[in-house]
Amino acid sequence: MNRPVMEGLRLNVPAYVKHTRLVAWVAEIAALTEASEVYWCDGTEEEYRRFTDQLVEAGTLRKLNPELRPDSFLARSDPSDVARVEDRTYICSAQRDDAGPTNNWMAPAEMRSLLQTGENALFRGAMKGRTLYVVPFSMGPLGSHIAHIGIELTDSPYVAVSMRVMTRMGRQVFDVLGEDGAFVPCVHTVGAPLAAGQADVPWPCNTTKYIVHYPETREIWSYGSGYGGNALLGKKCFALRIASTMGRDQGWLAEHMLVLGVTSPEGRKFHVAAAFPSACGKTNFSMLVPPAAFGGWKVTTIGDDIAWIKPHADGRLYAINPEAGYFGVAPGTNYHTNPNCMDSLRRDVIFTNVALTDDGDIWWEGMSDTPPAHLIDWQGKDWTPEIAKATGAKAAHPNARFTVAAIHNPVLDAEWDNPNGVPIDAFIFGGRRSTTVPLVTEARDWTEGVYMAATMGSETTAAAAGQQGVVRRDPFAMLPFAGYNMSDYFQHWLDLGAKLQASGAKLPKIYCVNWFRKGADGKFVWPGYGDNMRVLHWILGRVDGKAAGAEHVFGTSPGYDDLHWEGLDFSRAQYDSVSSIDQPAWQQEMKLHDELFRQLAHHLPVALDETRQRIEAKLAA
Ligand code: OXD
Ligand code: MN
Repeated sequence: MNRPVMEGLRLNVPAYVKHTRLVAWVAEIAALTEASEVYWCDGTEEEYRRFTDQLVEAGTLRKLNPELRPDSFLARSDPSDVARVEDRTYICSAQRDDAGPTNNWMAPAEMRSLLQTGENALFRGAMKGRTLYVVPFSMGPLGSHIAHIGIELTDSPYVAVSMRVMTRMGRQVFDVLGEDGAFVPCVHTVGAPLAAGQADVPWPCNTTKYIVHYPETREIWSYGSGYGGNALLGKKCFALRIASTMGRDQGWLAEHMLVLGVTSPEGRKFHVAAAFPSACGKTNFSMLVPPAAFGGWKVTTIGDDIAWIKPHADGRLYAINPEAGYFGVAPGTNYHTNPNCMDSLRRDVIFTNVALTDDGDIWWEGMSDTPPAHLIDWQGKDWTPEIAKATGAKAAHPNARFTVAAIHNPVLDAEWDNPNGVPIDAFIFGGRRSTTVPLVTEARDWTEGVYMAATMGSETTAAAAGQQGVVRRDPFAMLPFAGYNMSDYFQHWLDLGAKLQASGAKLPKIYCVNWFRKGADGKFVWPGYGDNMRVLHWILGRVDGKAAGAEHVFGTSPGYDDLHWEGLDFSRAQYDSVSSIDQPAWQQEMKLHDELFRQLAHHLPVALDETRQRIEAKLAA
């Protein structure tokens, strides 16, 4: 199959690749993008080292001090390419209504013309002077019935090495695919073709960016960015946007959820899946260290960001983490907030946009109380605490990241790689609200739980939106990640619950949490971090039918005496300030729910609007 695609270009197909359709597609993309070479990644350690050497040579990666941070690297991105670009992200379903009001949409033919077929289509010649890497990856344990396969074609070796850390990447994927297995085709270019003799830059990218999903044909096309979720297409693009449409069609769930295991001192193991909006401490929660008073309790990580959840023959929902690594936000992480994460980052890490210390290690805001006296910041400039004071310059970009394999996590759950997944006992949905939403509430039934998740919200920070305290609704923490109409997504959750219930299954209980209530002094009242174990403990007590709580207008919450307080000095008054339900505030809150439902009116499940009306009536009574 070494046939020439264009003059001078060979496909170099390895003998172990038997999938004719896949090879034809690689040939088609190589021809479209005019890549100068095609390389099939085998996922070996030797290959990884060769790529990282090459990236060091190119100036994309810098090797960190091998004594302080063995086998680790620092990448500095272009300052214009530092985060996911939601305004450039499209769901190109055949019908606009299928993308819904919360997604950008363009007709597939129009988008294809822009990207592929038009005279000046962006992908035409986009890989000139670059190698096209064929990156085979499995989302989930290889061969698991919950897992799915993707092939990313990319002209970024940084993406190829990151995909090896973040997914099960390598030639073994072709054994699973065989001659005709299904895969999600993912095409990625940094959009920076090189003319003959033109020197490359350390972080090639383009000011024009498109992150495009075709849900019907299950394709992903990404143009112009080399960063994170824009470029590592297994993560948000496949595992959430495309997978959520697969889940809708096939009867399962692709969720923006961490998954953790909790083992009691008696050895009873629970599994919890939890959804929080981006930057609300998901990695911290997934690696939580229980306080000393919870001696014998153990929290272990299955996943920190995404869960794929399928019903099994026993009627229960089983979850896998489709990823194999963590692409986490570095700033704010330290030995107090997340010691397990810090220990995960001791070696074999690719850091992006953190600061460099004078001894060749890394630093970010919040890593230590006292910053080093001198650093090179994420843009390669000198940084000192004095400069920071005078100019406000951050040493690390606020969205600086670490990319590290899950196997380095000291509290990795023994079942994290189990192809059958783990049975989910409870779902937790958490927003970030300084007022109104209590510390924890249990939904009385599945519909009430779906309502809680559908209406969850997060207050924007000043940095993010210019206007502090504005509540951005983020249903199921899926606002930027649902690959189809959000109201149809709610309906899918309701339908799945009804179907499982009809089969006699015990559904997971659903909870809504809020760690972020503030006191009159503007400070967080709840200590959070490890003390979130107190809430988790109550939730698991409820799952086992042991813990008490009191019903109120929208669910059941613990009273002060229903929580375990040993080892924490937290008064009844403090508890009241994180758990009270303020009637006028809730009446105001319901107006916002109504506003959200108006926005999502097309296909909004009747059951959700009925739930809203019921809560409103109770509040008015
Ligand atoms: C992430 C996100 O990077 O949610 O996980 O933005
Ligand atoms: Mn996320």
